[in-house]
Amino acid sequence: MPTLPNFKLERYFAQYEFKVRYLLSASDCEAVSVADLLALADADSRARWQRLSLGYTESQGDPALRAAIAATYTAVQPADVVVLVPEEGIYLAMRTLLEPGQHVIAIAPAYQSLSEIASAIGCAVSPWPVTLTPSGWALDLDQLEALVRPETRVLVINFPHNPTGLLPSRAFLDALLAFARRHDLIVFSDEMYRGLELDPAARLPAMADLYDRAVSLSGLSKSYAAPGLRLGWLATRLPGLVDRLVAYKDYTTICHSAPSEVLGLIALRAGQHLLDRNLALIRANAALAAAFFAQHPALFRWLPPQAGSIAFPQYLGPEPVDAFCQSVLDAEGLLIVPGRLFNTAGPHFRVGLGRANFPQALEHLDAYLARR
Ligand SMILES: Cc1ncc(COP(=O)(O)O)c(C=O)c1O
Repeated sequence: MPTLPNFKLERYFAQYEFKVRYLLSASDCEAVSVADLLALADADSRARWQRLSLGYTESQGDPALRAAIAATYTAVQPADVVVLVPEEGIYLAMRTLLEPGQHVIAIAPAYQSLSEIASAIGCAVSPWPVTLTPSGWALDLDQLEALVRPETRVLVINFPHNPTGLLPSRAFLDALLAFARRHDLIVFSDEMYRGLELDPAARLPAMADLYDRAVSLSGLSKSYAAPGLRLGWLATRLPGLVDRLVAYKDYTTICHSAPSEVLGLIALRAGQHLLDRNLALIRANAALAAAFFAQHPALFRWLPPQAGSIAFPQYLGPEPVDAFCQSVLDAEGLLIVPGRLFNTAGPHFRVGLGRANFPQALEHLDAYLARR
């Protein structure tokens, strides 16, 4: 496989994330502390934590953890789950599903690895664009139909969507599923932000529950406020795929970290509490953001997300959005991610709504604008 190009967003964060004072564009929710997490533990998981020894763990993932993960699905069973690092899940899935010369359709813009690994393997990748319409962000199924080729193998989707916060309707998802069945496609569904729907009734089923040729990616980094655990999973009912994923994992991490598995079990068992906490933060911050951007109609068009912890508003100011983000960074130590890092040409920037200090980040943006 040729060398992978730099992951633009991750390199940008690597440069600034731990140096700047505030992040306006973080995608995760305010991280939960170990002390707060342990306070949520039930008797069984607390005992697991206390007697934990730091040995190697089962390659596929601890059975109790896989049972807790499977409990978040309807059709997926513990045997259909592989525990891994979320980003590793994208890599392993692409490496096990794809061969050079195959074709992939991938939602765009998107988290870069969702298309980049397929390209590096030697697959042709067609972007399926999320476009801005008068009523907000949207995808078009006719456009999708026009992209399919005889050699198309995988369709990559991501709902709730990073970076736009798009969440399609159930009817749209059913039509997409019918399309995938018709063309016998495998669907790779990144569901890292699932559970953060602003209207919980709009939550979509996991693809791995709906379709036996789907792979769902999820994890604790976003919706469950525990990115430092580096814990995620793939869920799939595709025959033989779990074994292939586990075998490939021998070349990446072999098995997951033991403390992280137990803390992850605690987080999942307290899952609803964490989702409620994060959704409350997102709702409050989204209201603040809407009011803030409405005060500057000549500079911003706020595009409220339907789900997830992220929005992708438009910058309407005179200079390129990149220059705006850099200038805010230089003046206020406030990090704003420009759309360029998602390979978009449009004048967008990412806003992260999951952090507790979002109001202070907005105050810094306000101070910057007042001085312009
Ligand atoms: C859509 C999406 N998928 C996957 C990941 C990878 O998650 P992690 O960084 O926890 O490995 C991210 C992280 O930002 C993401 O936004």
